[in-house]
Amino acid sequence: MKLVIFGAPGAGKGTLAVMLAQRLKLKKISLGDMLREEAKKNTPLGNTLAEYMQKGALVDDKIVAQVIKENITEEDFILDGYPRNINQALTLDEILKEKGLNLDYFIYLNASEQTIIERLSGRRVCAKCGAIYHIKNMPPKKEGVCDICGGQLITRKDDTVEVIKKRWNVFQAEATPIIEHYRKQGKLIEVDSNKDKDVVFSSLWEKING
Ligand code: AP5
Repeated sequence: MKLVIFGAPGAGKGTLAVMLAQRLKLKKISLGDMLREEAKKNTPLGNTLAEYMQKGALVDDKIVAQVIKENITEEDFILDGYPRNINQALTLDEILKEKGLNLDYFIYLNASEQTIIERLSGRRVCAKCGAIYHIKNMPPKKEGVCDICGGQLITRKDDTVEVIKKRWNVFQAEATPIIEHYRKQGKLIEVDSNKDKDVVFSSLWEKING
């Protein structure tokens, strides 16, 4: 199965992508994670990416299209973080067509601004393996330590109130045409993502198999 998972920053894309990837045996392609990895490197490209991300702005369409092109293969996948504007949605259509592949569903996790602020301000991620936690909703067994690999849990650089607001505004400005694009293609699955992650997963699972 080939899936895209979409939603505002903090809607739960990364969390649900891991759950779906495990259940359906999909390769998880997280554009945000790949860009963060590249940004850690002290290269001209890495420094450019870091600048965009620390402002909460979208990285240049041409750069991200190249990353997506290189990572999409015949293997089943769940794509998190792409597309984020209508131009990227059209590019993804082209990439899939060129490769002779077909997207099964575009999953939209619909969450309110209040949910997003609460989730992002409490998010912690493992510096080593990238596992996602929340200080209240999904705390690690030992504070500050990853349950999976023992790595240190950190706060993402773009999870400050100011940058969260900027990311939310970017999402609001770009989301509607993308959602409509996939609704027209009959590929849209929309779920209420304000609920607990297991409830969100169950309603997604029903819709995928329904
Ligand atoms: P990216 O890394 O993709 O960030 P984002 O879209 O802002 O999304 P997040 O990772 O913040 O949130 P999420 O929805 O994955 O939520 P999570 O599961 O962690 O992108 C970062 C930046 O990269 C962008 O700003 C941009 O600069 C650049 N970029 C990326 N893609 C690009 C593109 N296509 N074009 C150009 N630039 C691009 O959950 C959040 C928290 O809530 C966690 O603590 C989690 O434990 C908790 N939680 C999740 N679900 C639930 C639930 N159901 N109940 C309770 N708690 C929950």
